[in-house]
Amino acid sequence: MSDAGLANGGPSPVSTAKVALRVDLPAASVAENAGLVEHLTTFINYAFTTSEQGIWDLDKPKFERLTADKTRDLLRSRELAFVWRGDAPDIASALDKLGPPCVVGSVRLHWAEPQIGDVSLVACTNSVRGQGVGRAIMRFAEEHFKREGGKAVQIELLVPQAAPHPEKVKLDAWYQRLGFVPIRMEEFHLRYPHLAPLLAGECLLKVYEKPL
Ligand SMILES: CC(C)(COP(=O)(O)OP(=O)(O)OC[C@H]1O[C@@H](n2cnc3c(N)ncnc32)[C@H](O)[C@@H]1OP(=O)(O)O)[C@@H](O)C(=O)NCCC(=O)NCCS
Repeated sequence: MSDAGLANGGPSPVSTAKVALRVDLPAASVAENAGLVEHLTTFINYAFTTSEQGIWDLDKPKFERLTADKTRDLLRSRELAFVWRGDAPDIASALDKLGPPCVVGSVRLHWAEPQIGDVSLVACTNSVRGQGVGRAIMRFAEEHFKREGGKAVQIELLVPQAAPHPEKVKLDAWYQRLGFVPIRMEEFHLRYPHLAPLLAGECLLKVYEKPL
């Protein structure tokens, strides 16, 4: 995985062993691309459904990690950055050339507090897993918040209380390798009361922070 730097807010090249990728926060107008909204919603939901098996009660009829409406809102408010495949210099050209399937990774960026950026919805498609896309997304997020005047970046981990969850154990180690430090545990239902009834069992939220 190369450590290629970010060009002042422009798309960042992501060098991986097998494919050329770029990451950027797209213009709000991409929210009007219905195929893109559907593609993002589908792969993000798939990534979380597979990695959070046992955490959510998938039999609950209302279970939906992300809806197309929510994806559209995040794109309109410029909170959803993504990674695309290929060497097109910007997302508009990439979408023109390759269509929505060129988008292979995502991250939601928003301000938890005035100078604390929050990173969530970190996901990639199965086709690029394990090739450094996740690490590139995290680096992009940190650079983004730093450029915007952030002093720290935070990320949350859902921690089931019944037994260690293998994917969450891996993520915990990964976040700490990236320099995130656990700073507190929170009750899930207090933070996300609307989602708590959809959990299969009790969960806490582990919050990590990394100074910028
Ligand atoms: C999280 C996610 C985006 C990571 O994407 P990725 O492109 O596969 O990640 P990377 O290739 O950059 O690898 C991330 C780290 O995991 C390690 N890793 C990759 N594959 C691994 C495997 N099979 N087993 C153990 N560790 C592995 C890598 O070494 C890397 O660690 P490093 O940065 O210290 O070298 C992806 O796994 C995903 O979509 N998960 C589902 C959604 C989710 O749980 N998101 C996180 C919560 S917001």
